[in-house]
Amino acid sequence: MNDIPLRKIDHVRFFVGNARQSAFFYRNAFGFDVIAYAGLETKVRHEAGYVLKQGEITFVLNSPLSDQHPESKRLITHGDGVMDIALDVPDVRACFEEAVKRGATPVRPPEALEDETGVFEAASIRAYGDTTHTFINRDRYRGVFAPGFKPIDPERYQASTARPVGLAAIDHMVANVEEGKMNEWVQWYSKILGFNQLVSFDDKDISTEYSALMSKVMQNGTGRIKFPINEPAKGKRRSQIEEYLQYYGGPGIQHIALATGDIIKTVRAMRANDVSFLRVPDTYYDSLTDRVGVIREDIQELAELGILVDKDDEGYMLQIFTKPVADRPTLFFEVIQRRGSKSFGKGNFKALFEAIEREQALRGTL
Ligand code: FE2
Repeated sequence: MNDIPLRKIDHVRFFVGNARQSAFFYRNAFGFDVIAYAGLETKVRHEAGYVLKQGEITFVLNSPLSDQHPESKRLITHGDGVMDIALDVPDVRACFEEAVKRGATPVRPPEALEDETGVFEAASIRAYGDTTHTFINRDRYRGVFAPGFKPIDPERYQASTARPVGLAAIDHMVANVEEGKMNEWVQWYSKILGFNQLVSFDDKDISTEYSALMSKVMQNGTGRIKFPINEPAKGKRRSQIEEYLQYYGGPGIQHIALATGDIIKTVRAMRANDVSFLRVPDTYYDSLTDRVGVIREDIQELAELGILVDKDDEGYMLQIFTKPVADRPTLFFEVIQRRGSKSFGKGNFKALFEAIEREQALRGTL
């Protein structure tokens, strides 16, 4: 199927219980700058919104201001999570109409929103569960983010006091879907958005003593947008994917991988900001050189910070995973630095999933 022309991920929209406090977390722990706000003070009556930026990454945090908000039930069902992945496109109407013609479920028809700084266009379709994709175009828009948003009040957040940790771009975003549904969503991305399959992992690649999962990585024509899709596979105990599906109340975004040019610096700063990361046993580092060969980083330093390494034919990559960022064991983040490799960390799956299972055991959800 022909590609729908997608330029990049424009932003990720989270629906959360308390956007003001989430903004504080992503600012002070993850190093984002808070650049824009929407809410009662900007004549938006039904929700509050904060726009956060670091490198090329834009997050939007929304909270409802009353139970009349059309999405307010989402908080009870899902807790905090990703509601929308917005894709920058050259022509919103054309993309939306083509996607719907190919079978996508429309959520919001094309709209041109205007304010004194220009025209912002948007239209949305439904993906897995309650997650949507919004096609947006801001070519004719000069405002801080979108109509309704105003630059953040400098008395509330001073840009000069933001402390970026070096997060630069979104590398990939992973969805968890129900058992038996992975191929359906692989087909959906292929048919509706013209994505192709980059790689697949089966339960032989991704299994531990207790649990297993399967995964296929879908990417757009330019390879710039990558969406791996996971489903649980049968194991002895409850897999991390099943745990997610139970606590999120259905399919949704499991993790967002954020790229950095210097993972040691980034993780050091995030740890200093109190971000909790998963740890693998120290023995992981004993055999690291045998597995990945010589690397530029100091292995002692990687071990101290808990950073993992994997390689493929084209090079190596470094990665680390946070613990879930809310109370429900749902959304978490990955920090990744690629040194040539296009890997998703297959060589780390076993050590990593055993680390997740230790956390599950503490939660009583294994
Ligand atoms: Fe990942």
